[in-house]
Amino acid sequence: MATTTRGNWGSKIGFILAASGSAVGLGNIWRFPYTAGENGGALFVFFYLVSILLIAWPVLIAEASLGRFTGKNPVGAFKALRPKGQWKLVGYLGVITGIMILSFYSMIAGWTLGYFFRAITGKFSTISGANARRVFEGFTGDTFLQLLLLGIFILMTVYVVSRGVSSGIEKFAKVLMPGLFIIMIFLLIRSLTLEGASKGLAFYLNPDFSKLSPRVIIDAMGQAFFSLSLGMGAMITYGSYLKKDENLPSATSWVAFFDTFIAIMAGFIIFPAIFSQGMDPAGGPGLVFEILPVIFAKMPGGGVFGSLFFLLLCIAALTSTVSLLEVASAYCIDEKKWSRKKSALVMAGITFIFGIPSVLSYSNIKFFKALPLIKTSFFGLQDKLWTTFALSIGAFFIAIFVGYIWKSANALKEITRGTQKFKYALIWSISVKFLSPLLIILVLVMSIF
Ligand code: PHE
Repeated sequence: MATTTRGNWGSKIGFILAASGSAVGLGNIWRFPYTAGENGGALFVFFYLVSILLIAWPVLIAEASLGRFTGKNPVGAFKALRPKGQWKLVGYLGVITGIMILSFYSMIAGWTLGYFFRAITGKFSTISGANARRVFEGFTGDTFLQLLLLGIFILMTVYVVSRGVSSGIEKFAKVLMPGLFIIMIFLLIRSLTLEGASKGLAFYLNPDFSKLSPRVIIDAMGQAFFSLSLGMGAMITYGSYLKKDENLPSATSWVAFFDTFIAIMAGFIIFPAIFSQGMDPAGGPGLVFEILPVIFAKMPGGGVFGSLFFLLLCIAALTSTVSLLEVASAYCIDEKKWSRKKSALVMAGITFIFGIPSVLSYSNIKFFKALPLIKTSFFGLQDKLWTTFALSIGAFFIAIFVGYIWKSANALKEITRGTQKFKYALIWSISVKFLSPLLIILVLVMSIF
């Protein structure tokens, strides 16, 4: 069980902040808008919200309760409840998925770092909708710079993780959230008042059901898991540091609410601006990095806002990368008995190596830009493989494990430990046993055809 030597969150608000720190990150501000843009806007948003409510929320509670009950990393958690059998493989899958996501996530986080330096040195003042893409491509095409940024970002993550749970992670999370939110409000106002903003709003808010396809649904579900840091044990690990007497349903529901709110808000910033500048909403992973500098250039004090924004986004990314590395590190600490520092460093080294081909996806080496046969870039493949598939498969098995192996009645005892009652106990049990796993399988199977 969780002991104080292993580390605990200082307070409930500590858990909420740190878990939202994990959840809120590039997933909300970078990935959500471009994935929505590629999938027809409002229709995607609709399925995203449905996925959060019906599929992701039950899994979030399942993960956190599993973590708090066992006090372990994902591998240890499965082992603790089922020492025999292969359930621990789900934990291993989580550790590997975490490292893989971290490898390309850190590259994007490196972009935010680079954009922070560009903003602070006034490089954005001349950016417009017409040249935004060229500027972005020039930046990501500089392989040496990209590797440097990737390395710096991974080292920053190692630094926080090696300082330990409450002294490191929690402190970072506490300073970040409100600041990022305030700048987003300014951005929102600027974007909504740009000429032609309403076309963007229509794209974002009026679903066009004729565009319905399995891809929209699977991308929405994958995004829901990614955004809430589910399916790979991050919330098992963070739950393991949650104190026993705290109200788990309310803490986790706040996390889901914050995360969804920030993502939806990011869409309200990005799409009006994209349409007002005549840019393509399906512009891919560069979308946010192309449009935001344009908004800043059109804002009084844009240089200051821009620098602050990218700095805070960088920290938001950091609290997410910390949770990705924490899973693999907690595994090495608990199961391999390594020191925290060694665990973080070794895992970070592996991460960097896997990050290199993702960086090369933006170089002029054709192989990485368009892999043979599949024709997507290495980065595109990584993102699809680990975000959409590995997280969904992980979430499926976590739901099955909690629903049938550990049993939902036992899980409910843990869930309600710090609270008198859990209003949605019945709905949650049904979701975790039937609804969530069935929908995940359905969507995965659909995506194959
Ligand atoms: N949820 C994070 C984000 O939205 C990314 C993440 C995924 C973190 C999976 C941990 C685990 O940016």
